Amino acid sequence: PLPEYAPAVVVGTGYGAAVTALRLGEAGIPTLMLEMGKLWTTPGADGKVFCPMLNPDERAMWFKDRTEAPLASFLWLDLANRDIGRYAGVLDRVNFGDMAVYLGRGVGGGSLVNGAMAVTPKRSYFEEILPRVDAAEMYGKYFPRANAALGVNVVDPGWFETCRSYQYARVSRKAAGRAGFGTVFVPSVYDMDYLRREEAGEVPRSADASEVIYGNNHGKRSLDKSYLAAALGTGKVTIETLREVREILHQPDGTYTLVVREIDEHGTVLGTRHVNTRYLFLGAGSVGSTELLVRARDTGRLPGLGEAVGRGWGTNGNVMCGRANHVWDTTGSLQSGMPALGIDNWADPVHPAFAEIAPVPAGLETWVSLYLAITKNPERGHFTYDAASDSAKLHWTASQGQPSIDAAKALFDKVNRANRTIYRYDLFGDTRAFENRFTYHPLGGLVLGEATDDYGRVKGYRNLYVTDGSLIPGSTGVNPFVTITALAERNIERVLAEDLRG
Ligand code: FDA
Repeated sequence: PLPEYAPAVVVGTGYGAAVTALRLGEAGIPTLMLEMGKLWTTPGADGKVFCPMLNPDERAMWFKDRTEAPLASFLWLDLANRDIGRYAGVLDRVNFGDMAVYLGRGVGGGSLVNGAMAVTPKRSYFEEILPRVDAAEMYGKYFPRANAALGVNVVDPGWFETCRSYQYARVSRKAAGRAGFGTVFVPSVYDMDYLRREEAGEVPRSADASEVIYGNNHGKRSLDKSYLAAALGTGKVTIETLREVREILHQPDGTYTLVVREIDEHGTVLGTRHVNTRYLFLGAGSVGSTELLVRARDTGRLPGLGEAVGRGWGTNGNVMCGRANHVWDTTGSLQSGMPALGIDNWADPVHPAFAEIAPVPAGLETWVSLYLAITKNPERGHFTYDAASDSAKLHWTASQGQPSIDAAKALFDKVNRANRTIYRYDLFGDTRAFENRFTYHPLGGLVLGEATDDYGRVKGYRNLYVTDGSLIPGSTGVNPFVTITALAERNIERVLAEDLRG
């Protein structure tokens, strides 16, 4: 049963939450983590914890009747998606009109479903987006701390050149090179030595078995194996699963009461409980934490919250596209689900882009080179509270995605011209070449220095903190989890020293 009181509560178990819980636990503070998803450790009937990517079942998605994969079609056929039972599955897609946000659900948050790309942002861009954060301290201390604790590693360059798993990446690199674009290796939290052994047939396949967005059964150092394992190891941290925080109440004595909904794996509501705490840390992610505070403000629970709550949200400029390769340029039927290369065109003065070379892990030759580009899209959305559905609504229009498309098009038009290739128009459900109606990288909503002070303390309230991707103002120029982790490390160190140890 849920305890009625914990000195510190952390909502969520993603990157910001996991960092915070570990450091609280190390400081000896009893800490309760509340996670709406489940703990992914028990195998299903097939002996596996996570379902196969190419034949998904109920474990794939968070209470959906049908999977909603990002590559909606192939040759305009809906080959990727399957009808499934409604269940507390690992990947959620929250559909807000013109924008859909993919999220991880379960102990480990996004780390359970993401591509494991662990990229430290360019320092100059970090200074641009968060000018009030001391970059020297971040790059000297907190980024190294985050990378070490996350278990970041890089593919062996020699093996990369000869392996089958990254033939697709080498083909894309060659095409980019013909257009004058350079590529860089992308560090990863997937164990690259495990991947080498997968290809050699020495261990069960995971990345090489197309596993990624519905979870990896092996090889990935998700948070449950890094920060959260260490947090539990302090003996001070407990994690309660299938517990969704719905409301935050502020008591006259300054403590907080959380209204927590308990569900089972099939979505049956088991009850509603109250948990009291002195120190409340929100790590429910950009969409989750922002919704909690927008709801708290607009229902009058936390009337002291200001206008900045719900603002400054962005997609990290995400846009996906595919190119059709020549028939002789095969990308291979074996493709690691974990990307290892990116095209780095961030220095472009007009259309900066960092394009990850993504797999098409279909298990057969597709002649497609796929990319997820991160672009510098200045557009921002915002959230408002919708009383009828008791949820936060994102305001983002299709036209706000156009700068992302323009940047990706500038890059890939050049690649296509240099290679005499064309885009693929059959991948996204209709005939569009660029898909930017979804994001993997929701950022912002409770921006550092605006909705919070410079260390994530929510303005207007004491002992209430934001720890996750909602602090970052919509863009970080690379895949975001290393930035989220390092910023959380920085903030909790300060908060522990100033607010909790005293
Ligand atoms: P995060 O979203 O990780 O965790 C929030 C947690 O809180 C979730 O477990 C959620 O269930 C829980 N929660 C939410 N509301 C709650 C409530 N009210 N009560 C209780 N619990 C609640 N990034 C990257 O750097 N490299 C990559 O390769 C990729 N690839 C990628 C692929 C895919 C498919 C996705 C969906 C995402 C990525 N990302 C990525 C993005 C990355 O995973 C993401 O930025 C981080 O997980 C965000 O970390 P946060 O700490 O902000 O929250």
